[in-house]
Order: sequence, then C-alpha cells, then structure tokens
Amino acid sequence: MSYIDSNETIKALTISSLHKMYQAGEKITSLTAYDASFATMFDQIGIDIILVGDSLGNVIQGHTSTIPVLIQDMVYHTSCVSRNIKRSFLMADMPFASYADQSQALMNAALLMQAGAKMIKLEGGAWLAPIVEHLVRQGIPVCAHLGLMPQSVNTLGGFKVQGKSEAQSELMINEAKILENAGAQILVLEAIPSKLGKAITEAISIPTIGIGAGVDCSGQVLVMHDALGAFPGRQPKFVKNFLANTGTIEKAIELYIAEVKSGAFPAPEHCFTN
Ligand code: KIV
Repeated sequence: MSYIDSNETIKALTISSLHKMYQAGEKITSLTAYDASFATMFDQIGIDIILVGDSLGNVIQGHTSTIPVLIQDMVYHTSCVSRNIKRSFLMADMPFASYADQSQALMNAALLMQAGAKMIKLEGGAWLAPIVEHLVRQGIPVCAHLGLMPQSVNTLGGFKVQGKSEAQSELMINEAKILENAGAQILVLEAIPSKLGKAITEAISIPTIGIGAGVDCSGQVLVMHDALGAFPGRQPKFVKNFLANTGTIEKAIELYIAEVKSGAFPAPEHCFTN
C-alpha cells in the first residue's frame, strides 16, 4: 500500500525543520492518529505533525473525557503509531496526572520517547515551567498546551472557551511567554478567541498550533475522527468534516493540508470571538 509513488529518500521532519517552516511563514499541519494504518497514511500524504493525543480516551476508548487515560495507553498507541512513520514529526500527550512533579514527569516522558515520540505535550500554565525546564535539560522536547485544557475539565466546569476576558487574555499571553522561556518549543492553543490566538502567536517566538484558536496561529491540529466526520454526537464549532465533499480519506487529508497551508481553514465559522 502506498500513497506516494516515488523512490526518493524521505527526510524526517525535526523540531529544527518545523521551526524553519514557521520562520518561513509556512503553516504547520497536524492531525491526531492512534494506530499504525492511519499514521502511515497521514505520514505519506504529508501531515507535518502526528499527535498521539490523549483524546484517544474519547475517540478510541469511549470515555466522556481524557481523565481515565493511563500512561500505559499512551505508550501502547505511541508505539503503534511510530512504527512506520518516515517524514511526520511524532508528538505524544502526557496523560492526566502523569507529570505532577519533575521526577514523575521525567519517568513518564521517557516511556513515551522510548516508544517513538520525538516530543511530548503537557497541559498547564506557569506552574509547569520547572517541569518543562527539567524535561528539556534531560533531552526531551516539550510542546505546551494552553487555553481549554481538557484534563482540567472538572476545575474549568466544562469544555468551555477560555481567555474571553481582558484579564484572562493577559494571563494567558504571560503564561505562553513563561513556557517559552522554560524551553517549550511548540505551543498548542485550544478553544480561545481568534484575537487571543493572534496575540499569543505574535508575543512568542515558537510556533503556535491552534484548535479553535483562529487562523493566525502558526499551524492547525484536529482530532482525526473530527476531520473525517467519524465521531458521533455534537461537534465543537472548530471542527470541519473534510470527508463530506471529498469521498475518500486520502482526498480529505489532502484537502485539510491544502486548506491549512493556504489559510482557508479555519474559516470564520470555525472560530470564536470574544
Ligand atoms: O488530545 C488531543 O487530541 C489534543 C488535541 C486536541 C490538541 O490534545
């Protein structure tokens, strides 16, 4: 099975090549994947970052949140996804309560790196800075995640848009700077007003990857089931079904890449205003 018909040597993306893409103003594409078949397909079609998201708690395990996901689940799916990837950069989520202190974070991040991840992702604000510093010192690249942090759904009181007030916006911009200074090399922004997505992207010098954070982020990520219209029930505003008018998964992913790269996705109907 092959999606690209070529013998040319495929160069793996690294954090440096992603930063070059960002500096050149090229949008970065990202999709989640949880198994070898979809990951191989996304890799061959040209997705830049494959994220083994703890969203697998929802879309694979059928839970209503990511809280039940265990580090063993993340390690298993990361190793499945990593097996055949040639070009895409592989990022894996640290699950709920698996990075409460530096030594726990290091132990669990090491398991994900040994399963094939090239970077790990953590949800949290300024409190995470010492943990980010510790991981980076140990050779573990870190992506931070601000805005709607699904692992904090119970303290947030639901899956709600974040950063709507002036004070919350300022706090988030400040936390983004703190996490960048701690050594985070990518920042995911979830469910925030587009204006804030733009302000954070302009305030820091690492790429921002948005999911419901507006078109001005340096790139976009979607849960693969959402991008393919495969998750039953009510969809968040930021979701687009790319399979609806394309007919095949390959064409849907090609359209997603084309729309992210050109800035056509997210359109205003996928974005939040204050
Ligand atoms: O778990 C996940 O899939 C994520 C993305 C929604 C960014 O964190």
